[in-house]
Amino acid sequence: MDTTTLQPTISGMDAKIAQLEKMKAEALLGGGQKRIESQHKKGKLTARERIQLLLDEDSFEEIGQLVTHRSMNFGLDKQKFYGDGVITGYGTVHGRLVYVFAQDFTVFGGSLAEAHATKICRIMDLAMQNGAPIIGLNDSGGARIQEGVVSLGGYADIFYKNTMASGVIPQISAIMGPCAGGAVYSPAITDFIFMVENNSYMFVTGPNVVKTVTHEEVSSEELGGASAHSVKSGVTHFSSENGVTCINEIKQLLSYIPQNCEEEAPRLSYAPGNERRPKLNTIIPENPNQPYDIREVIEQVIDTDTFFEVHKNFAENIVVGFARLGGRSIGIVANQPAYLAGVLDIKSSQKAARFVRFCDCFNIPLLVFEDVPGFLPGTDQEWNAIITNGAKLLYAFCEATVPRITVITRKAYGGAYDVMNSKHIGADMNYAWPTAEIAVMGAKGAAEIIFKKEIEEAANPAEKLLEKEREYAELFANPYSATERGYIDEVILPEQTREKLIKAFKMLENKVAKLPKKKHGNIPL
Ligand code: HXC
Repeated sequence: MDTTTLQPTISGMDAKIAQLEKMKAEALLGGGQKRIESQHKKGKLTARERIQLLLDEDSFEEIGQLVTHRSMNFGLDKQKFYGDGVITGYGTVHGRLVYVFAQDFTVFGGSLAEAHATKICRIMDLAMQNGAPIIGLNDSGGARIQEGVVSLGGYADIFYKNTMASGVIPQISAIMGPCAGGAVYSPAITDFIFMVENNSYMFVTGPNVVKTVTHEEVSSEELGGASAHSVKSGVTHFSSENGVTCINEIKQLLSYIPQNCEEEAPRLSYAPGNERRPKLNTIIPENPNQPYDIREVIEQVIDTDTFFEVHKNFAENIVVGFARLGGRSIGIVANQPAYLAGVLDIKSSQKAARFVRFCDCFNIPLLVFEDVPGFLPGTDQEWNAIITNGAKLLYAFCEATVPRITVITRKAYGGAYDVMNSKHIGADMNYAWPTAEIAVMGAKGAAEIIFKKEIEEAANPAEKLLEKEREYAELFANPYSATERGYIDEVILPEQTREKLIKAFKMLENKVAKLPKKKHGNIPL
């Protein structure tokens, strides 16, 4: 567009109104009809369509609609678009205030420069000041190449504000197109990332640079698409089929979380009824080495159909997500015996630690289901720092001051027993099912070590091992040694779990717990 069309030059009230209307109409078109069509052809929604889907009808109030850039380089003085490639403002989702920015790919490919960044910073400031979540809908070619270093400054301003906002207000990022280079670090600092399948990517360096440096041939999708980041890297928490489902999932997530760190998540009304769930008595298999799906346990315990799983396809040996229990929002962390026997490893520790910290930041009580055989052995794990990474989960639980309850359904072995929200590290209530096995290690391994000599010298070593294994299992493969010492508050029937948890979380409703005075802790990163 020619810059002269941007200057209001007409006098008289009617003419001034007409001028303003014309400018606003132009702003609504972003980079113009042709580019809008090109966006649709790629199977993508425009920034305005995304905002419309996200917010309650007629609730959007735009801020900075007529902002333009000030650059004179490379012909940019002749190319100005109202809004400068990002639409910013506020509105409501299910009646609750949110702030939003949506990058407009039809304007300079949604690229970020001075004015664009200033607009984002402005609504981040408002979100912080007024204590409401900020949602960023990303679709951008990265730093605006014509503006040079001011783009880098703009990104850094946003990174700084993301960090200041961390733990104060929920920050949600959706990647709905390209997101490359340093641009990835704003979403990475936010609490949750959503990616749209086959239409978005995130990487620090793209396929061309990768080819030059490492000689790997890889497509953008393989390198940084939704499936790579939801399964392999865990960078994204959600992988959505398309732009519409992505936005609906963001709205669903918002329903579980509070507006800011001073508030609690919204509660739904709940009418107490018969809370017994006899099906829970039938889930744990007779054979302790047989897997079962912990989601079956979760589904039986929580309010019907309220489980909203986070990081579903990443580190599947642990399951995390939000749910409602008696109408109240809770965060669930559960070992998954159906995947790698529910063992704790580097990725599952990272995944769970990050989730525990989010819940603690935002006053969401934590419920842990424990069935863990221990930490995964091996050089891969040790050399990639299972020690440091396992410690993240331990640290996250130790530090969490929200109400915390654990239910041991089956195995609770070794250091993993301590880590998974044990009484010793500050859990408020610890329940066990009669099927629980709480011990330093499995009976076979234990017998092999402590009765080594006896077994070796026996006429029939295999039989002796079995006998000693049984002896150890009888003593420790149950919940009662731990219960005698008060590590477990009560051994409950599985069918009672839901009613016990509803009562216990209610009892803990007014929990006050403070950490020692410090600048901040030093979590083993
Ligand atoms: C200015 C840009 C732009 C950019 C795209 N455009 N990226 N303008 N700066 N970074 C413009 C194009 O000129 C074009 O304008 C319009 O956006 C659409 O771009 P196309 O290339 O036609 O679209 P598409 O084929 O879909 O390809 C999208 C793309 C590609 C893959 C993003 O445009 C691209 O590779 N862009 C450059 C990416 C890049 O190298 N960015 C800098 C990275 S460094 P018209 O007028 O034709 O519509 C970086 C550092 C950040 O970001 C550091 C932060 C700390």
